[in-house]
Amino acid sequence: MDTDFWHRRWQRREIGFHNDEVHHFLQRFFPQLNLPQGAKVLVPLCGKSHDLLWLCEQGYQVVGVELSQQAVEEFCQENRLQPEIRAVDGFRCYQFERLSIYCGDFFALSEKQTGRVDAVYDRGSLVALPPKMREDYVRQLRQLLKTGNQMLCISYDFDQQQRPGPPFSVPQADLTELFADWCTLEKIHSESTLDRHQMLQAAEVQALQEEVYRLRIA
Ligand SMILES: C[S@@+](CC[C@H](N)C(=O)[O-])C[C@H]1O[C@@H](n2cnc3c(N)ncnc32)[C@H](O)[C@@H]1O
Repeated sequence: MDTDFWHRRWQRREIGFHNDEVHHFLQRFFPQLNLPQGAKVLVPLCGKSHDLLWLCEQGYQVVGVELSQQAVEEFCQENRLQPEIRAVDGFRCYQFERLSIYCGDFFALSEKQTGRVDAVYDRGSLVALPPKMREDYVRQLRQLLKTGNQMLCISYDFDQQQRPGPPFSVPQADLTELFADWCTLEKIHSESTLDRHQMLQAAEVQALQEEVYRLRIA
């Protein structure tokens, strides 16, 4: 899955993954991380998610990373933000109060841009990547994170035979394989949410569990 795939999705408005509201699992479960005010939260593959603004409203510094300039500009327009925009190390950085969005390839990001990170919020990121890219994603997170950092990850578990990804099904066994040798991993919630995923319903996916994991870097 190359970068053109995602640029095309944004150009053709094939963005069924985008929610018009803040994700209810973010509001419900992110407080369990007990982060102090001012903590820095990295949001990889952020799209134009309203979750970015909710995190800012909780008093966190937020760093989003998104490939599509169209997505970032829509985010700014739709939320009436007038960010400062500057070129930083090959990225276009949109800065607005406590929020920075790096427009460019997440796999090219380094600590030089993010600085110290305290937590990661992953919704629609790991599940957007095909299996062969997941190890690169995890390798990249390992470079950016330190012992004690936490992560809230929302994943999907469904029968991939019923519909090709994205989104991809990343069940607990796959998460354990990717993370267990460097993180503690706790499933904190699992809920059947097929009724909220029309595209999967239309593809006749029979069952979908949306699962919330809390990870801590050991
Ligand atoms: C499934 S969407 C999820 C967006 C967002 N997390 C949400 O919850 O709405 C995946 C997003 O990742 C972006 N993306 C894909 N590959 C990327 C990469 N290598 N670097 C940065 N963003 C990427 C896509 O443009 C798309 O907006």
